[in-house]
Amino acid sequence: MLLLPLLFILATLTRADETDCDPLNQTCPADAALGTAHTWWFNSTLDSTLWNMTTGTPEYTSEGANFSNRSVNGSTLLQSNFYIFFGVMEAHVKMAAGPGAISSVILQSDDLDEIDWEWVGYNTSAVQSDFFGKGNTTTSDRGGIHAVAHADSQFHNYTSYWDRERLEWWIDGRLVRTVHYSEPLTLYGRNYPQTPCRVKVSVWPAGIPSESLGNIEWAGGLVDRDDLPFTMAVLQRIRVQDFHTGREYQYTDRSGSYESIKVVSGNSTAKAEINKTPKKTLAQKWADLPTAAHVGVYCAAAAVAAFVLYCIRQRRQGRLERALAESPRSPVQSTEMDTYKKQWRQSEWGRRGYQNVEQ
Ligand SMILES: *[C@@H]1O[C@H](CO)[C@@H](O)[C@H](O)[C@H]1NC(C)=O
Ligand SMILES: *[C@@H]1O[C@H](CO)[C@@H](O)[C@H](O)[C@H]1NC(C)=O
Ligand SMILES: *[C@@H]1O[C@H](CO)[C@@H](O)[C@H](O)[C@H]1NC(C)=O
Ligand SMILES: *[C@@H]1O[C@H](CO)[C@@H](O)[C@H](O)[C@H]1NC(C)=O
Ligand SMILES: *[C@@H]1O[C@H](CO)[C@@H](O)[C@H](O)[C@H]1NC(C)=O
Ligand SMILES: *[C@@H]1O[C@H](CO)[C@@H](O)[C@H](O)[C@H]1NC(C)=O
Ligand SMILES: *[C@@H]1O[C@H](CO)[C@@H](O)[C@H](O)[C@H]1NC(C)=O
Ligand SMILES: *[C@@H]1O[C@H](CO)[C@@H](O)[C@H](O)[C@H]1NC(C)=O
Ligand SMILES: *[C@@H]1O[C@H](CO)[C@@H](O)[C@H](O)[C@H]1NC(C)=O
Ligand SMILES: *[C@@H]1O[C@H](CO)[C@@H](O)[C@H](O)[C@H]1NC(C)=O
Repeated sequence: MLLLPLLFILATLTRADETDCDPLNQTCPADAALGTAHTWWFNSTLDSTLWNMTTGTPEYTSEGANFSNRSVNGSTLLQSNFYIFFGVMEAHVKMAAGPGAISSVILQSDDLDEIDWEWVGYNTSAVQSDFFGKGNTTTSDRGGIHAVAHADSQFHNYTSYWDRERLEWWIDGRLVRTVHYSEPLTLYGRNYPQTPCRVKVSVWPAGIPSESLGNIEWAGGLVDRDDLPFTMAVLQRIRVQDFHTGREYQYTDRSGSYESIKVVSGNSTAKAEINKTPKKTLAQKWADLPTAAHVGVYCAAAAVAAFVLYCIRQRRQGRLERALAESPRSPVQSTEMDTYKKQWRQSEWGRRGYQNVEQ
């Protein structure tokens, strides 16, 4: 493992996304907990209850969210609205290639504890690991650099494991780095990440003229304007697991220590959101049905139409009451409709739709 002397610059740049309220300095609202485990795929629109697209607009493709930007200074930042208090974050991404572009997937707390995966655009064969405690960026001895093949064109599994005792970075099921709570690098725990963190994913340019020469050098040179859009990172999916199952996390003092964090029990709003029945439009429900069901619905519709016509005719003949009495088989009970319902019931969404119909 190589230690990169210039990594502290990245930390300085990361500071740019300041948190709104520093719990070491003021009384802040509690952090909403994830309180469970879930995998998010980023191939369609975000659930904006759980995720905040703070800067930029991703392009959703079948393989994931494409974070690209046509502006030289353009950046992209996606943040989770939920926090985890120890846990696992597993990201499947392709880094942004090209001089000047930095991609990152990090866990970050309100008092700036941080656990990082970072990719520097000029080297598509490496990923950097790093961590910070309480926003302390005075040293540059904490970064690691790890080889990874074709990080810009292949998805890899970048997993951070985080508990009270240790931090681990895994690439494709291989443990590449471990940091223990109590070791010199963490100042024997003082600078060990230990407060509730949210997930942040970003792509931003470090190689722009307004940056210092050091930054530009570290980023591998200036962003090439002729190559716009210069950034292109794809976020396929993220699995996040919270090791606590409560509703929210409160800082009970200004120490920033894990012992000061109170886990408020209850079901998190994130959990409720995850377990909520997604609302589907009629068109989506229709598209989800197998062809046979479509035929079934047409047949049922035809049966309904026939019944309506029959009723109209009967009414015209002044015999509607008798007709209904003579016809115990209502169109909804037709064979076609039964087939349709059965098939619909067999699919998960259909089951919910069916229940709605029945209510
Ligand atoms: C607390 O906040 C005040 C006002 O923003 C600032 O001047 C001070 O430096 C902060 N203290 C710490 C310890 O961060
Ligand atoms: C997203 O986050 C930004 C920055 O924290 C905040 O100003 C904005 O209100 C958030 N948007 C939503 C929809 O929550
Ligand atoms: C997104 O990916 C998931 C998992 O592969 C898949 O089930 C889902 O159909 C995809 N959605 C879209 C809109 O491509
Ligand atoms: C991402 O978006 C950029 C800009 O629109 C486009 O050139 C590129 O092909 C997209 N990448 C993927 C993988 O779709
Ligand atoms: C990029 O940002 C810097 C300062 O933030 C500004 O001076 C410069 O004009 C911007 N460039 C473009 C192309 O927007
Ligand atoms: C490009 O970046 C700028 C500045 O960060 C942002 O305002 C804009 O929304 C971004 N555009 C896209 C398409 O992400
Ligand atoms: C920040 O880290 C440096 C080097 O590890 C250490 O000397 C310093 O005491 C730390 N500062 C705080 C406030 O913990
Ligand atoms: C990229 O990083 C890997 C792993 O540290 C290293 O072996 C390789 O030489 C680097 N390539 C460049 C272009 O710096
Ligand atoms: C990703 O890596 C982690 C750590 O090795 C592992 O637990 C997880 O199962 C992997 N995910 C997939 C989809 O293989
Ligand atoms: C949390 O949700 C479960 C299952 O929905 C329910 O049984 C339980 O009562 C809820 N707990 C609280 C504190 O609301």
